[in-house]
Amino acid sequence: MVTWVVLGGGLLALYVLIYYNLVRCPKCRSSLKLTGKTVIVTGANTGIGKACALDLAKRGARVILACRDKVKAEAAVYDIRKESGNNEVLFMHLDLESLESVRSFAETFLKSEPRLDVLINNAGLARGKMSSDGFSIEFRVNHLGHFLLTILLLDRLKQAKAGRVVVVASEAHRWGSIDSRVLSGVATKNTGWSTFRPYCDSKLCNILFTRELANKLEGTNVSCYAVHPGCVFTDLSRNMKFWQKLLFVPLAKLFFRDAENGAQTTIYCTVQEGIEMLSGRYFSECQVKEVSASGRDDALAKKLWEVSERLVGIA
Ligand SMILES: NC(=O)c1ccc[n+]([C@@H]2O[C@H](COP(=O)([O-])OP(=O)(O)OC[C@H]3O[C@@H](n4cnc5c(N)ncnc54)[C@H](OP(=O)(O)O)[C@@H]3O)[C@@H](O)[C@H]2O)c1
Ligand SMILES: *[C@@H]1O[C@H](CO)[C@@H](O)[C@H](O)[C@H]1NC(C)=O
Repeated sequence: MVTWVVLGGGLLALYVLIYYNLVRCPKCRSSLKLTGKTVIVTGANTGIGKACALDLAKRGARVILACRDKVKAEAAVYDIRKESGNNEVLFMHLDLESLESVRSFAETFLKSEPRLDVLINNAGLARGKMSSDGFSIEFRVNHLGHFLLTILLLDRLKQAKAGRVVVVASEAHRWGSIDSRVLSGVATKNTGWSTFRPYCDSKLCNILFTRELANKLEGTNVSCYAVHPGCVFTDLSRNMKFWQKLLFVPLAKLFFRDAENGAQTTIYCTVQEGIEMLSGRYFSECQVKEVSASGRDDALAKKLWEVSERLVGIA
């Protein structure tokens, strides 16, 4: 009996320890208001993006939800307006898998919105299928679509007093590498050790993109940051097989943070004042963190930028 009580108590203490160190995220403490500012959040209909959009709406920002599914996005607009009391929350259609859609989003946005203060590249997917041209869908959605989107919106960001680009990357970038076939602008094959591989690669692209973008932005008033949100229980696991979900969901419920906690570092990089000298760097738990060796490779970052320009047709 005593043994069980001790054991139970020990397990409880362990969970409390894990909870406070891993599950709960340090909150972004800035109470900065964003009244009069415009923010775009991609993939804001659910998960981290939605939690982030809600917080920014509460701060008074005009928030554009850039999403691919009209029905889901309009439901999110309704929820966010209701909870924040801010009616300047809008949906604009964006499917990052299609460069044509990215271009038409940018055109619509630039025509209808006079200003842009922050672009949050949050949308992402894992374990998708290969797309027809042989590039992984993770590469196209998580990296390439956001690459073009950012380039097309950069001039408008430069007109802001202190524009920002926040890129939601991941610790998964540590397992990523950039295939030489990608760098020569030809298709990559999904032959890695797992279907998770293209996701890790795309997250490394996010890190390298942010790094090179910071170089390109030197001398402007725009800064950029890459983010790891933590392990967050969202719809990101939607493409898992049934048996994988069976294992994953209960563990995630216990050990992963919720979307509100998962949004904190993104919010931090959006509103925290005085971090401009850390432009191009990577943040986790609301503080700067070192990236993997490949993530610090400036030559690789440059090469990825050049090939991305060619792939989206702007070189
Ligand atoms: N969850 C984690 O533990 C974790 C950890 C590290 C990094 N991250 C990163 O955090 C970001 C947000 O993920 P999440 O966990 O919140 O996942 P999520 O709940 O699955 O949300 C992903 C969002 O991206 C959107 N999206 C997917 N493909 C798109 C496309 N082609 N065009 C436009 N939007 C698209 C989704 O739209 P639909 O609803 O229409 O599909 C959804 O709104 C991702 O970049 C992810 O890599 C997550
Ligand atoms: C950046 O902001 C400062 C202070 O607002 C301003 O003086 C300067 O002209 C701006 N620089 C550019 C390149 O816009």
